Amino acid sequence: ITRIGILTSGGDCAGLNAAIRAVTHRAIGTYGWEVIGICRATQGLMSRPPEYMSFTIQDTYPLLTMGGTVLGTTNKGNPFAFPMADGRLCDRTDDIIAGYHQLELDALIGIGGDGSLAILRQLAQRGNLKLVAIPKTIDNDLGSTEIAVGFDTAVNIATEALDRLHFTAASHSRVMILEVMGRDAGHIALSAGIAGGADIILIPEIPYSLDVVCEQLRQLQAQGRNFAIVIVAEAVCTETGEKVTQTNRLGQCRLGGIGQYLADAIATGIGAETRVTVLGHVQRGGIPSPRDRLIATAFGVAAVDLIAQGRFDHMVSWQHRQVVSVPIADAIAQYRAVDPTDTLVKTAQAMGICLGNPPT
Ligand code: F6P
Repeated sequence: ITRIGILTSGGDCAGLNAAIRAVTHRAIGTYGWEVIGICRATQGLMSRPPEYMSFTIQDTYPLLTMGGTVLGTTNKGNPFAFPMADGRLCDRTDDIIAGYHQLELDALIGIGGDGSLAILRQLAQRGNLKLVAIPKTIDNDLGSTEIAVGFDTAVNIATEALDRLHFTAASHSRVMILEVMGRDAGHIALSAGIAGGADIILIPEIPYSLDVVCEQLRQLQAQGRNFAIVIVAEAVCTETGEKVTQTNRLGQCRLGGIGQYLADAIATGIGAETRVTVLGHVQRGGIPSPRDRLIATAFGVAAVDLIAQGRFDHMVSWQHRQVVSVPIADAIAQYRAVDPTDTLVKTAQAMGICLGNPPT
């Protein structure tokens, strides 16, 4: 091995740059390899000439605390059916594989979530590329690892938002609803909800009843509380099971709006004044938490070591306070939703937090 590539793929999150820094330190400092940063995920390898930047250890000095990714990223355009300017879908995988060889890479570190890693793995198999993966996702829904880069910062930001909402809620005697990201999973809502002292946490993995939610709010009122805090994951459906989405003028549809649905239902149900905060991409930006910096750094070092050991097609993973490696195939096959028997679910219940469960 003399030269490795690194790319970030899918939605950005805090800690990506810290991982790039760690990879560069380990690869150059320990093994004397060259490190090539590929721009805009696989699109940098598709371009001619390929778009890249070579890193020195000195270049990566400011990256530890920097949000986003200096390499750029994209979650648009599966290279197996890539949208061309004229609207056609084209298989661009050969261009990406050719880009990898044109840069004379001996191995590639891909930092991504389940969707990106599945695509990178298919590319690696097709082109015989030597791939090692680092897990990142604020949703924390990737299998085979307890934690992925970006989740901790997102939870910190959502928790801070709840802390702030408490004061304004109490001042105005309102029910405040915070809608958080998480794609199909409720990890952010569950963790931030417990850490931020929410009264009600709604996640897609646990069905809820509006009657139960309203009854909890009535009980709080009866106990003398003049406000309440609700956190809801964006993928929570209406009580009748419909996904709540928003469609823009181009007809593109994305999750969002469950917070307002709940606010209206609560206002109607108990006559409370409600307000909604949709946290959105604030959860992905900003300075990575110390824990995300730590995880990203440990993952970056371990990913380079996997290359040195020739352990390709593996992903670094956090298990029982150790960094281990697992087959990428296992990680992407095991989607990790919140398990309703999870310790954190039990903790929330024990703390009297309402999860909305309809009576059995
Ligand atoms: O997967 C990360 C994530 O932030 C989800 O939590 C969210 O649903 C989605 O990406 C938002 O994607 P986009 O940045 O394309 O709006």
